Amino acid sequence: MAEVLCTLPLPAPFEEMVRPRASLSVLGRIAPSAELAERLRAHPVDVLCPQLRDPITADLLDAGLPTLRCVSLYAVGYNNVDVDAATQRHIAVSNTPGVLTDATADCTLALLLAAARRICEGDAAARAGAFQGWEPDYMLGMELTGALLGVVGFGRIGQAVARRALGFGLRIAYSTDVEVSIDADIQGRVTELPIAELLSTADVISLHVPLTDATHHLIDERALRSMRSSSVLVNTSRGPVVDETALVRALREGWIAAAGLDVYENEPQLAPGLVECRNAVLSPHLGSATVATRAAMARLTAQNSLDAIDGRVPTNCVNPSAWEGGAPPAVS
Ligand code: GLV
Ligand code: GLV
Repeated sequence: MAEVLCTLPLPAPFEEMVRPRASLSVLGRIAPSAELAERLRAHPVDVLCPQLRDPITADLLDAGLPTLRCVSLYAVGYNNVDVDAATQRHIAVSNTPGVLTDATADCTLALLLAAARRICEGDAAARAGAFQGWEPDYMLGMELTGALLGVVGFGRIGQAVARRALGFGLRIAYSTDVEVSIDADIQGRVTELPIAELLSTADVISLHVPLTDATHHLIDERALRSMRSSSVLVNTSRGPVVDETALVRALREGWIAAAGLDVYENEPQLAPGLVECRNAVLSPHLGSATVATRAAMARLTAQNSLDAIDGRVPTNCVNPSAWEGGAPPAVS
């Protein structure tokens, strides 16, 4: 029987899908890399199902050989996996795209609205007894109707954010480094701009790029200084896309007006000073955190695992070239 190891327990229907076909073990916590490697050497598995906090390095992949054929990740972002190392070792890597697009776009809009309209700052004031009653100039924020939203990275999630923002009367521009196909319903309603122009003209910037060497600190001090002082930055992608230390200065010194963040450079730590920034709305990596979305992610993670066990390239494989020379035979 095939062997599958999850680092954390995954929600239904993961187990009911995998159990008939494999013996399933769950570590139950995020173990240090060396311990996970030890475990893989002691109990070889065919499929490893980690989540986004498990670093899947070349050394860890080596520990899984010769049996490990697939890393079936419970996430869409796969920056924690050394995909090149996996490909060299003929290990398929799969993720869970598509099913978390809407939930993540909703979370992005929640942060955008809260940051632009100072909802969390107002919540804190109301709780602290600092609300003295309605006043003409109390806690004014940004008018979103007619404002320009700059979407950096225009894949599924970026486009889902644009679609929602159009409903709020925002104008949309985007920048992208890769060829994108724009969904028919928003075509003609979005404009492409070079990133420098996007940063310097947008009222709101929202980040939807994967974390790669090229996007690490894409939003650095220079980028932040080029943004409008009235602007809002939203990040639901990956923390290291933003230089968080520079962002704290930007928020403190008014280079930008506010930020809405779901992801952080060194999760779960926050950069020194960020907590004190009242103009930052901080959510704890909740982009895909709905019951329905997490279940859909579990289903895809299971399906990708079963594909690999059966010797089929996983449905959502990010490195199909890993099995270019032929898929391994089904595990009997
Ligand atoms: C969440 O951040 C994911 O990549 O699935
Ligand atoms: C991620 O799923 C994206 O394509 O934006």
